Amino acid sequence: MRTRVIPFSEAAVREAAAVLRSGGLVAFPTETVYGLGARADRSDAVQKIFAAKGRPPTNPLIVHVSDRSAAADLSADWSASADALAKAFWPGPLTIVTERKAGSLAPEVTAGKITVGLRVPNHPAALALLREANLPVAAPSANRSMSISPTTAEHVLKTLSGVVDVVLDAGKTGFGIESTIVDTSQTPMRLLRHGALPLSEIARFGDVVDAAKVICVHTAADAPGMFAKHYAPRAKALLVAGEALTETVNALRSKGKRVGVMELGPTRCGTPHVELGAEADVYASRLYAALHQLDDEGCDVIVIENVPNGPEWAAVRDRLMRATAE
Ligand code: TXA
Ligand code: MG
Repeated sequence: MRTRVIPFSEAAVREAAAVLRSGGLVAFPTETVYGLGARADRSDAVQKIFAAKGRPPTNPLIVHVSDRSAAADLSADWSASADALAKAFWPGPLTIVTERKAGSLAPEVTAGKITVGLRVPNHPAALALLREANLPVAAPSANRSMSISPTTAEHVLKTLSGVVDVVLDAGKTGFGIESTIVDTSQTPMRLLRHGALPLSEIARFGDVVDAAKVICVHTAADAPGMFAKHYAPRAKALLVAGEALTETVNALRSKGKRVGVMELGPTRCGTPHVELGAEADVYASRLYAALHQLDDEGCDVIVIENVPNGPEWAAVRDRLMRATAE
């Protein structure tokens, strides 16, 4: 199959929506990363996502809809806290887990769970596509399982060319890391994945337990996608304290390794090198592109300078832990 890459326009949205409606796969931009979409109400369409990604059938998909009422329609228990979060942050980078309504989604979407993850993305192309298709759209990040998430159409093609029917191309995504996932089916609410929306924002709406760390260490039963090793580049990636950076890089280079370096500031170790910036949101928006770039440059090892400890860095720290997990 040939993958068609079409620049975002009204006509492109109509074409992509028709592909979705007929049960095909469309990669589309969101404000976080590119998603790999299929209509969520048909098993044959949803199964194509699992096949394309090589994703285990036990790992549920996030369902994207165009507005809050469409989300509430898919829930069997749309709670006051879910509604308050949705009102405050949608469209936006928050996935709300709630009890699913029986019968409205293909069973594969939720991987046998009684809950479903719902989100209204804040991107003009994603919203136009969801409105035009007029369907709930299941969409994980548009990359093969265990590889780096895509923040451009080119990143999507690296692992899914020939597998996805259409890529709707609107350039670079904004946040650059995935949505925050919060489970509202329990009290207190549980944070299942750190992401583009900070935990402190959610905490303004009620008690929330940070369950993301526990999930990473244990068997990932709550959010089955949260295995420790995830988002990994082909190269071996190491997380190193700033003071030890130069020494580590030099030692590896003296053994003949091609070493790429990711730093907060300008290079101290030569090239290949990416400067990510000392602000968490700027760093996040550049993170996946940096891993893609150093992988493409043929690095054997990517040495990453550790980031600060503040709460605003939680999502970035999480992704770095996963990229560097053994
Ligand atoms: O920003 C994002 O959320 C992107 C864009 C495309 O929207 N999507 C994304 O999807 O990151 P994915 O499939 O790469 O990650 C979905 C995560 C997985 O860890 C999965 O286990 C979890 O969401 N998840 C989905 N449904 C769930 C549910 N019912 N209960 C708990 N976790 C769920
Ligand atoms: Mg993913």
